[in-house]
Amino acid sequence: MTQAFDFAPLLPADLPPAAVRFTGLPKYNFTGGNNDAAEVPVDDLIAAATASLKREGRNLATYNVAHGPQGYRPLREFLVTKLKRDAGIACGVDEITVLSGSTQALDLVNGALLTRGDTVICERDNYQSSLTRFARRGVTAIGIPLDGDGMRMDALEAALKDCKARGVRPKMIYTIPTVQNPTATIMPEARRLEMIRLSEQYGVPIFEDDCYSDLIWDGKRPPALYALARSGNVIHCGSFSKSIAPALRVGFLVAPWSIMSRMLPLKTDAGSGSVEQMMLAEYCAPHFAAHLPVLRKALRKKVETLMEALNEQFGTAAEFEDPKGGIFLWVKLPDNVDSMKLYQAALKEGVAINPGPEWSTDKQHATPRLRLCFASPTHEQIREGVAILAEVCRREFGVPTRSANIQKARA
Ligand SMILES: Cc1ncc(COP(=O)(O)O)c(C=O)c1O
Repeated sequence: MTQAFDFAPLLPADLPPAAVRFTGLPKYNFTGGNNDAAEVPVDDLIAAATASLKREGRNLATYNVAHGPQGYRPLREFLVTKLKRDAGIACGVDEITVLSGSTQALDLVNGALLTRGDTVICERDNYQSSLTRFARRGVTAIGIPLDGDGMRMDALEAALKDCKARGVRPKMIYTIPTVQNPTATIMPEARRLEMIRLSEQYGVPIFEDDCYSDLIWDGKRPPALYALARSGNVIHCGSFSKSIAPALRVGFLVAPWSIMSRMLPLKTDAGSGSVEQMMLAEYCAPHFAAHLPVLRKALRKKVETLMEALNEQFGTAAEFEDPKGGIFLWVKLPDNVDSMKLYQAALKEGVAINPGPEWSTDKQHATPRLRLCFASPTHEQIREGVAILAEVCRREFGVPTRSANIQKARA
């Protein structure tokens, strides 16, 4: 047998660590931003895909179906209407670029603004992928603590002041103001205006990551930072991953042309998939607004099951806020619980959780915390998974001492 070719000596030193081979999803999966399978509007998507392909399928012969690098125009037209109605954003189709998920927005914004040694400011508890992206670029992320209304403006102001005193101009304030990941907080309008004021005062632009904003239970969201800003200092991104389905891989950027024109050349995939964009445009115009309340209701039921299961199995050992929307719960366990160890032990029993330290700039603060996504497991899986998690937690850390109202001996 010939020996396998050795690529190792050829790999650049700064290549990310090797991928782990996919071996299937865990039985009880409380990780990732997956959606509720029962709520994917499959029949309407089939009809939309069929209608759009019948009408325009031959245009697939041309990159971007001849609509240019910013994406399929009818989808951007839908977004213009939707962003105006829901987020208060007044923009034209040229301010929008359709992307391969909002993940691509993170790469384009980071690519345009960041270089090794730079500083960014962001919420302390944060989207893991954003934090790893900053780290991989050699960028320092200053984490700002949150309260029930999201990023704290007194702490933001102090950080901006401190940076200025040190001669550092942060490249951006990266924020998830509407159903923050992982805390699920929603920043009220007054605080948004304060953030914009500070952004202008210190000359630091804002990158607003808004991918959960369609998932607020009562459908009422504050205006987007992009809508409130007057000086073009905000870049906004959104996604169809959380409102329709993440496997579509369709997200979007909204930005003034001055910076959009610097990000577009970094989109080097020769365009995002046009079939998904055509299908979405066809589906969304008649159906999107009616789909959302149905999805929100299903998600609300799931989080109620999760909160009930946590209360039953962990009692007062699990602390969390009843979220106003979204797909995850940020849970605090007693201080002696190390969620990294809990994660390893639970995974062996088929329960996957997101351990806090991977979701925060402050590892110590996040050690007893974990993020639980409730959208994709069924109600039964939520109940069973939480019961197993409590059992593992008790075995490893001696808490909770009481489960399902049954006193357990300390391990
Ligand atoms: C805050 C935040 N931003 C961006 C993304 C990326 O989502 P997608 O690329 O599927 O649009 C996610 C996904 O979970 C997220 O939580």
